[in-house]
Amino acid sequence: MKSSNLAPILQPRWNTKIVASKNAGKSDIIPIGRARKDQASTLRGAGNEPAPASSVRAIAVSGGKGGTGKSVIAANLAVAYAERGSRTLALDADLGMADLNLLLGLAPGHSLLDVMEGTPIDQVLIEAHGIHVLPALNGSFPLANINEETRHRLFEAVDTLDDRFDTLVIDTAPGIADNTVNFAAAASEIIVVITPESLSLADAYSCLKALHHRVGLTRAMVLPNKIRRPSDGDELFDRLASVVNRFLGISLTPLPPIPFDPQMAESNEEGVPLLVYNPDAPASRAIRQVARRIEALARPEDRQGGVRLFLRRTFDKTEKEAGG
Ligand SMILES: Nc1ncnc2c1ncn2[C@@H]1O[C@H](COP(=O)(O)OP(=O)(O)OP(=O)(O)O)[C@@H](O)[C@H]1O
Ligand SMILES: [Mg+2]
Repeated sequence: MKSSNLAPILQPRWNTKIVASKNAGKSDIIPIGRARKDQASTLRGAGNEPAPASSVRAIAVSGGKGGTGKSVIAANLAVAYAERGSRTLALDADLGMADLNLLLGLAPGHSLLDVMEGTPIDQVLIEAHGIHVLPALNGSFPLANINEETRHRLFEAVDTLDDRFDTLVIDTAPGIADNTVNFAAAASEIIVVITPESLSLADAYSCLKALHHRVGLTRAMVLPNKIRRPSDGDELFDRLASVVNRFLGISLTPLPPIPFDPQMAESNEEGVPLLVYNPDAPASRAIRQVARRIEALARPEDRQGGVRLFLRRTFDKTEKEAGG
């Protein structure tokens, strides 16, 4: 099924009554169909060593469409976790745009690429606003081409991070390029951001479809953003869930919606996360609620977290696709 066929279903239908409201933000897991492939076994098979146990929760902020708010959500969610006492690392997996750095007022001199070339990881990590940021790689970096020695150096460098952090928040690039999908797929949990803007749902569907077919994704959280009326969040979630229910076997969990908040743009311009710029702004409060909700949700039993494991999954998946 081509996503263009979904256009009539996924275009805005403001006047259509939704039959099954899932009450975004109130209900928890909504089981939707069966997966074609088991996500765990697909990814377990991708590693060549046993998975190291880690309690790091790796959360990727994803969604096919550009401009839905992935980067501001990743930045502010990371700050929300830090406020809750979690040692938090934000990984910028969209270096092409380097949005996360700009949003946090940073100008990093190094990235994961330098770590591969031998720069100590502590010279690459940047601390700001109570969190650490690890600038990663841009979407077109040929991950599949790096040699065994470089890989080893990278994994050794990131090994120490699992003891130093509790939460890893990954900001991904728009679109469904290989690296983007692989970064998202390597996380233990995925948030797909949707907005009332036209095509947002069709792009979210394409993103879920790519993750389902390419890496056997079986579950995702859905976060409605830039919401102007409280009921719009539920409606957007329901429209996406009804199509995903029909065509993909993915369990979707609604997260509490984030309102459209003009202070978001102001905080971006200042290079300060909204949670710091105005802790009481409506979107700040909503993002804290999202963090609380994710924390309250059961962690997927079959998905170990961990920074090292996360990167290894990303690399192994890319290598497999390249026939390596
Ligand atoms: N809740 C919100 N209220 C108001 N504006 C918002 C909200 N969320 C995001 N924005 C604005 O939307 C724009 C895009 O946000 P952001 O850069 O985070 O999107 P993105 O999904 O990361 O984009 P890209 O796909 O290009 O990386 C920014 O100008 C940001 O200030
Ligand atoms: Mg972004």
